[in-house]
Amino acid sequence: MRSIIAIAAIVAVAAAVTCPPCDQANCNAAPCTSLAPYYCAAGRSAGGCGASADSWNNTALCTSCCDTSACSSTRFTCGACSTSFCESAERCSILAPYMCTNGSSKWGCATTGSFWPNQHMCDSCCDVKTCEKKCQACTAAQCQSNPCSSADPFVCTAGPLKNGCSNVSTYFPEQSQCFSCCDATACPTQAPATTAAPQH
Ligand SMILES: *[C@@H]1O[C@H](CO)[C@@H](O)[C@H](O)[C@H]1NC(C)=O
Ligand SMILES: *[C@@H]1O[C@H](CO)[C@@H](O)[C@H](O)[C@H]1NC(C)=O
Ligand SMILES: *[C@@H]1O[C@H](CO)[C@@H](O)[C@H](O)[C@H]1NC(C)=O
Repeated sequence: MRSIIAIAAIVAVAAAVTCPPCDQANCNAAPCTSLAPYYCAAGRSAGGCGASADSWNNTALCTSCCDTSACSSTRFTCGACSTSFCESAERCSILAPYMCTNGSSKWGCATTGSFWPNQHMCDSCCDVKTCEKKCQACTAAQCQSNPCSSADPFVCTAGPLKNGCSNVSTYFPEQSQCFSCCDATACPTQAPATTAAPQH
């Protein structure tokens, strides 16, 4: 591909050639990124990408081209993650929350929502920020098994970080390795194991 682009650059001249916007089939097939959005759909260079429409102004190289620039809005967007993706240890971190969920880049993470729709190696994506669930008050059973002190009342209740403790309410919701959490603030304080006999 790199060599195709180099050859195309050599033959490219100032003449303006317009590659029309790609249709859905070409959007899905094109491996082009925003750096080289012009896709050669037919001809010897079929499957190649060029930085300018002029790249393909050579019928010997390419007989049909199109512009992938507008493809992202037509392929897919990163919506809410399903529970199985939220509760996967491979889940992306909040630092790069757009996760590819199918295709050869599955489990890849990106910082912008427009990234995966522009990658042909990815067929769908989701936003792991939608996995964040506020820590609700712990249930009686969770209070019973709460390993955390009152100084760190937020408890991770599922996932690799299970039984972790934090004093920050937003900490576990943002952790990719914690799938659920609860707030032990209102748990009854643990009664002492034995009570002293009344003194007379
Ligand atoms: C392609 O470039 C040549 C110059 O090398 C120019 O004469 C020609 O008009 C261009 N073709 C189109 C379709 O613009
Ligand atoms: C993932 O992609 C494969 C191949 O294109 C397809 O068969 C499968 O249904 C897709 N799975 C999901 C969950 O979209
Ligand atoms: C959490 O604990 C750390 C260290 O003990 C402290 O610096 C921080 O202020 C605490 N944050 C909250 C929200 O209580």
